[in-house]
Amino acid sequence: MALASPAATPGDLRAAFDGSRALVTGGLGLIGSALARRLVELGASVTIIDASLPESGANLRNIESIRERVQLALVDVRCTDQLPELLRGHDYLFNLAAQVSHVASMSDPITDLDINCRAQLTLLEACRRVNPGAVIVFASTRQIYGRPEYLPVDERHPLCPVDVNGVNKMAGEAFHVVYSNAFGLKTSALRLTNTYGPGMRIKDARQTFVGIWLRNIIEGRPIEIWGGMQKRDFTYVEDVAEAFLLAATCPQAQAHAFNLGGDRVVSLLELAEMLIATNGAGFSRGTPAHRYRGLLRRRWAVSPTHRLASARYARTGAGAHAGLFSRQLSSLCLS
Ligand SMILES: NC(=O)c1ccc[n+]([C@@H]2O[C@H](COP(=O)([O-])OP(=O)(O)OC[C@H]3O[C@@H](n4cnc5c(N)ncnc54)[C@H](O)[C@@H]3O)[C@@H](O)[C@H]2O)c1
Repeated sequence: MALASPAATPGDLRAAFDGSRALVTGGLGLIGSALARRLVELGASVTIIDASLPESGANLRNIESIRERVQLALVDVRCTDQLPELLRGHDYLFNLAAQVSHVASMSDPITDLDINCRAQLTLLEACRRVNPGAVIVFASTRQIYGRPEYLPVDERHPLCPVDVNGVNKMAGEAFHVVYSNAFGLKTSALRLTNTYGPGMRIKDARQTFVGIWLRNIIEGRPIEIWGGMQKRDFTYVEDVAEAFLLAATCPQAQAHAFNLGGDRVVSLLELAEMLIATNGAGFSRGTPAHRYRGLLRRRWAVSPTHRLASARYARTGAGAHAGLFSRQLSSLCLS
């Protein structure tokens, strides 16, 4: 199938994806499942590859509404034998399978290396051999910047990850760019900020503190705020899915990595207040800044990813807005 020209409006996404074949690795997780649902809605034939790792956000419920309309391959991307057959014939590969816990990457760095680094190279190599024409979008992370040297953090900011996950994701992203430059693969990468929305893992803080905050608030337990003035930006999961589709339909995006962040920066305190207000009840318990500072130093620095350009457009139905793209991806795709 010939790929459509860059999507001018969300409506044009249908023209790009209707009748196409799309593969989503990590499609049982928070973002991959939202992407799979949207692809099905747009008329794509979707295959999900997911190992359903117990400590990940994988959940079959995330694809309940589309279960009969997708192919699900319970395959580990580290399993090299099965990849070529799965990759063959797909127009799009949305590559989201990852070990996402930063803490786990420090306690079990080799697993993180195998999934986020080695398996990414294996996947690209398989693509190069059996499906070099596929459009590939990789889920990177803004964590690869490390502690900000300046704000706003744009894509020219030095990359200096502060944990093993950041190093491996940085390598995974770099492989995608190299395979585009060296072998002509149609790859791009989005550096994601904190994503939230339906399907997120809320049973613990393994993926994000927001998950456990939501759970505690709903269950009437206090949410713990360490400090509170730290700033974050958030993206709604369906907007992130939309951004992946835009990147896939924008040839100018190829061989590039883009920041993808929210359009508003909020402090943790503000976030806690918002959650409590939305729930109509709840309370928080603070830990003063001096007590958590040492701990934070050993963790990773997170800064607001700032926007250079805002790709806002109304999404059908949900009325949500797409987040931002630096490097004017939005204007490349939307103009
Ligand atoms: N959620 C965020 O805030 C955020 C922020 C930055 C980057 N990202 C990136 O976005 C992507 C998706 O994140 P998410 O939040 O949906 O995570 P998630 O844990 O909800 O989903 C990841 C999925 O990948 C699958 N997976 C992991 N290892 C696998 C393997 N070896 N083989 C096959 N499947 C495997 C898991 O089973 C899971 O279903 C990841 O690449 C992550 O690094 C997410």
